[in-house]
Amino acid sequence: MKRNLALEFARVTEAAALASSKWIGRGDKESADQAAVDAMRYMLNEIDISGEIVIGEGEIDEAPMLYIGEKVGKSQEATPVDIAVDPLEGTRMTAQGQANAIAVMAVGNRGSFLKAPDMYMEKLIVGPEAKGSIDLNKPLKENIYSVSKALGKELSDLTIVILDKPRHKSIIKNLQDMGMRVIALPDGDVAASILVAVIDSEIDMLYGIGGAPEGVISAAAMKALGGDMNVRLKTRSEVKGITLENDKISKGEIVRCKEMGIEINKVLTLDDLVKDDQVVFTATGVTPGDLVEGVSRKGNIARTETLLIRGKTKTVRYIKSIHNLDFKSEELKKIIL
Ligand code: FBP
Repeated sequence: MKRNLALEFARVTEAAALASSKWIGRGDKESADQAAVDAMRYMLNEIDISGEIVIGEGEIDEAPMLYIGEKVGKSQEATPVDIAVDPLEGTRMTAQGQANAIAVMAVGNRGSFLKAPDMYMEKLIVGPEAKGSIDLNKPLKENIYSVSKALGKELSDLTIVILDKPRHKSIIKNLQDMGMRVIALPDGDVAASILVAVIDSEIDMLYGIGGAPEGVISAAAMKALGGDMNVRLKTRSEVKGITLENDKISKGEIVRCKEMGIEINKVLTLDDLVKDDQVVFTATGVTPGDLVEGVSRKGNIARTETLLIRGKTKTVRYIKSIHNLDFKSEELKKIIL
């Protein structure tokens, strides 16, 4: 993949963040998400790539834009790439004006990413120093001892991040009882996973159940940063309990996994999730966050911060941009202003 494309991809998440930032604190997560999708799709179609969305906003019949299988890019003769998007990771956080919402995307060569269905995924993630020390086939406790050994840290010096969901309540308590420091975030496990692997981070590992599409996007960043990750796909009934509705959804998930040739509850490694490390990962802050700053705006001047990682060279760039929105294209203005 051409090096110059990386900056083009950063412009895509910048535009998505600018668009969704209009909706911060307005209590309308659908509009916030739609604005990010519109901006991302418009920008992707401006780039000289032959792209296919492999992780997107849903299946073709339920998601009109950036659906799985949608072709994007200027020309189908240009560089062929697979694209995993989460135009707005943290729709609720944006709607409620809470921290850590990002616009995020990963791009790789054709066939780079696991085509995971939209279901739940159990995730265990560590940074480069603890690579090779995790195995989700073993109990969480054993993994924690193994990570603590790899990092040469006492349990009381280990920090783990986990989504603050009812399903994790007893796990959080157990981890705290083991003496670990637990950071429980309301939402947003993509930003949280990257925090595990960025060089100056205080967070040692991530555990918990979140979305599978988000898991593949996190895996792209882990691959690019040299971290490690084990996951297992979970049905809705396993995660949320058995109800008529959950069972119906779970049956659909099982069928979808069979069609895609993926096994539910089988441990998948980082290599299963992302085939090679020639990936580009870009995330722009929407609301202020631990990973990147959020969008700030005064009139038609806006500032953004983007984390851009190139897997090939392992270069991590933080790009701070000042945008004069009056000078964006007329099409983009309609979306972001
Ligand atoms: P959205 O932005 O799509 O709402 O996702 C936020 C998120 O917290 C993800 O980071 C996480 O993987 C997933 O939702 C967890 O799902 P649930 O809210 O169903 O527990």
